[in-house]
Amino acid sequence: MFYRQHVFCCTNKRPEGHERGCCIDRGAGPIRDYMKQRCKELGLNDVRINASGCLDRCELGPVMVVYPEGTWYRPTTKEEVDEIIRDHLQGGQVVARLAIAETA
Ligand code: FES
Repeated sequence: MFYRQHVFCCTNKRPEGHERGCCIDRGAGPIRDYMKQRCKELGLNDVRINASGCLDRCELGPVMVVYPEGTWYRPTTKEEVDEIIRDHLQGGQVVARLAIAETA
């Protein structure tokens, strides 16, 4: 298997004033950059951190989704990204407090 997990981080940008807003305006850029940097530093070569276009959960942004599990997260701080990396990407456990419900 080439990658054990893929993380898609929405970095979509919408025009100012759009009714749905966008993840970039909600801080997605630094969150994605930090996750990519930390995974590299930790040697997680089998986990791919990808920037993504709109994932259609804009109001909940910044959003990311981890596959193959299909777990959605909304981290807003570096500490929360660290928690997702440690507990989920390395530890295999969903971080329930940061996860977005399937129906949200
Ligand atoms: S702008 Fe990020 S999910 Fe739509």
